[in-house]
Amino acid sequence: MITILENHYTFDRKPVNRIILGEKMQVPESNINIFGDTLNMQGEITGSIGFFDYLIADTLIPTTRESDSMSYQKTMRIPFLGIEPEYQRQGYFLKSMRLLEEIAQKQDCSAITIEVIKNPFLFIWGNRHGYKPYWDYKNILKYLGP
Ligand SMILES: CC(C)(COP(=O)(O)OP(=O)(O)OC[C@H]1O[C@@H](n2cnc3c(N)ncnc32)[C@H](O)[C@@H]1OP(=O)(O)O)[C@@H](O)C(=O)NCCC(=O)NCCS
Repeated sequence: MITILENHYTFDRKPVNRIILGEKMQVPESNINIFGDTLNMQGEITGSIGFFDYLIADTLIPTTRESDSMSYQKTMRIPFLGIEPEYQRQGYFLKSMRLLEEIAQKQDCSAITIEVIKNPFLFIWGNRHGYKPYWDYKNILKYLGP
């Protein structure tokens, strides 16, 4: 089950939508962590399976796949995400990213980014799925255009 909580909180002064998987659950009940560190989870409600936060905004990203120059482009940004430990390795992340890419495409975003990555697994995953690191290996980005 998927629910979208619109304008759940603000990040960079922009409204953030939260996609929750499973039943609604209070944030303090979440067991998501990254190598023993708690994830800095904002908002009040999450999902019993996991959550994905996103905002759509004109964002400074590399102009094209190959270029070193940067320009502002309409981008779906994912600042925080997590799958609860008991639901990991069951494909929820992959399926959710496909859904987010679809939403981004429908909203005419040029690209989708996962930001300020603390889990190195996401770079390995990104490499397999068309995401390229940028901003000194802190973010990964996929262009959605033709
Ligand atoms: C990173 C995370 C979102 C992955 O979610 P998930 O639902 O377990 O991922 P999936 O089951 O969709 O896995 C996708 C693929 O990666 C593999 N995989 C998943 N976690 C992996 C890991 N830690 N190491 C290696 N491979 C992994 C899966 O086997 C799968 O590969 P396959 O399609 O070839 O079988 C989840 O582990 C998590 O929430 N971690 C803690 C919070 C976190 O790191 N958030 C990101 C903040 S930067």
